[in-house]
Amino acid sequence: CGIVGYIGERDAFPIIMKGLQRLEYRGYDSAGVALYNKGLIELCKTKGKVDDLRVKAESEGVVQGNIGIGHTRWATHGEPNDTNAHPHYSNSGELAIIHNGIIENYATIKEALINRGYTFSSDTDTEVLVNLIEDIKINKQVKLGKAVQMALNEVVGAYAIAVFDRKKPDEIIVAKLGSPLAIGVGEDEFFIASDASPFIEYTNNAIYLEDEQMAIVRKGRDVRVRQIKSDAPVDPYVQELKLNLEQIEKNGYDHFMLKEIYEQPEAIKDTYRGRLRINDGIIKMAGVEDNLEKFLNAKRIIIVACGTSWHAGLVAEYIFEELVRVPVEVEYASEFRYRNPIVGPGDVVIAISQSGETADTLAAIKLSKEKGAFVFGVCNVVGSTISRETHAGAYTHAGPEIGVASTKAFTTQITVLTLIALKLAKSTGKITNSEFHNYLAEMEVIPNKVEETLKSDEHVAAIADIYKDAGNCLYLGRGYNFPVALEGALKLKEISYIHAEGYPAAEMKHGPIALIDEQMPVIVIATKKGHYEKVVSNVQEIKSRKGKIIAVVTKGDKDVSALADHVIEVPETDELLTPLLTTIPLQLLSYHIAVMRGCNVDQPRNLAKSVTVE
Ligand code: G6P
Repeated sequence: CGIVGYIGERDAFPIIMKGLQRLEYRGYDSAGVALYNKGLIELCKTKGKVDDLRVKAESEGVVQGNIGIGHTRWATHGEPNDTNAHPHYSNSGELAIIHNGIIENYATIKEALINRGYTFSSDTDTEVLVNLIEDIKINKQVKLGKAVQMALNEVVGAYAIAVFDRKKPDEIIVAKLGSPLAIGVGEDEFFIASDASPFIEYTNNAIYLEDEQMAIVRKGRDVRVRQIKSDAPVDPYVQELKLNLEQIEKNGYDHFMLKEIYEQPEAIKDTYRGRLRINDGIIKMAGVEDNLEKFLNAKRIIIVACGTSWHAGLVAEYIFEELVRVPVEVEYASEFRYRNPIVGPGDVVIAISQSGETADTLAAIKLSKEKGAFVFGVCNVVGSTISRETHAGAYTHAGPEIGVASTKAFTTQITVLTLIALKLAKSTGKITNSEFHNYLAEMEVIPNKVEETLKSDEHVAAIADIYKDAGNCLYLGRGYNFPVALEGALKLKEISYIHAEGYPAAEMKHGPIALIDEQMPVIVIATKKGHYEKVVSNVQEIKSRKGKIIAVVTKGDKDVSALADHVIEVPETDELLTPLLTTIPLQLLSYHIAVMRGCNVDQPRNLAKSVTVE
């Protein structure tokens, strides 16, 4: 979910609406706003998108006020409908709250509140929280801030919340545990949001709350931060942001996803800029250098991640094992954390996360740290929770990724991981100086080759047009391109809702081959090297079962091209770096199919960009 708040002299409504729109990547099944207007808290909420909310709020006249909070939701407790949308009132109607996260013990608290006469109109855990706050405020006769603090000490779960009180319209109380919360500091005005994008045009100064901190944001005055458990005051650290507005807008592209696909040459360059130093013959990465011993002494490397980041981890497994000759395991963070995993001192855990906020990945990090492992983060969002929770790390520097389907985050994650592997391989002498140099030189030209690959866009769109009505799709690849097949299938599923599966090409004959008939498009990644001949045999097996073959091949390819129905060429590169190229046409294919099917590319149904619940 995304949360926004404003307290100052301006009209809060337009600020909140625009802010919510920027946060829609965090969830968009329902939305709501609460404004303080002439002694009342006026509230409007609806199932649907922020645009629907705007229309409804304008028609109901809920637009006035200089203080307000807004929410865009990704449902956890209770289906997405008007009632379950946030904000929620307390029973007296005096408090309004927005919440991102999950209150795990809400059922017990709810029961106790019901016994005390409270009633509930929604199925949400959030309505329970606001009434708990109200109950404490009334019974213990404490101020709102204190009541919030006491309530949070009773709840188990994760939250970023903002609460305000009709009787005290000059302050908003916010608190954080697990879910992110930033406070924009303007002149005599403050902004509250899940990330800085809603307030970037108003201020470059922000305070990021840490876990278990709360803040009282006081209109025209100050921000008072405290520890929720110990009540100790904290000096707020005001950070200067580097984000600019253009980076978070579409820049003439129809969708963020397409913009982000096209940004990949630049994004990869930004990722290796300053690190790849060909003239000096080195890779500079402070996070790795400072912990070189830990990496070099590692018995093994465990990679934890979710979704697309997990696929980048799989690519890294191949690269690390090849170059560094260290055993690598790649784990779904959600499985790892609940499995009583064998991990401890001597292990290096690499956590990969675009957002740096994914709850399962974060929990896997905490567990690994507790057990004594060294944890290294690969994140895109600077200052994100994961980047702060890990012992060291390397940013991808891909710039903000807004489209829910991850694209440039994936290729830049692979870039960073490749740089780390090369650096380690060089340090241990696992590769020679000339091999190292060749890799660096090839990495440097990858952005140009990505650029060249992007030229296949129209051709890919024409292929998309032929297969847009498919019901199923199979993606096959071997070696470095096996994870690319998984990622290609995930992209298609996510945004076009066509069922797709990725498979190691040779595994096809152990099951998926049964699905192949003339209706079934099979996307085969068959670049030169990469067990090319074996893939050619797999393509033949598909062909003899009348499957439709779309092959991603190396420029100038003959054998696969002779068999395939459609061919998409990528420039030749080192085998290890091919995923950075072969991924591109698969991203474009799913993008065009989704557009042709009339799907909402940037905000596919049921998904969210940043999943801060487990
Ligand atoms: C969500 C997104 C995916 C993403 C995954 C992991 O499911 O929709 O695109 O790959 O989370 O996110 P992270 O931010 O940790 O990379």
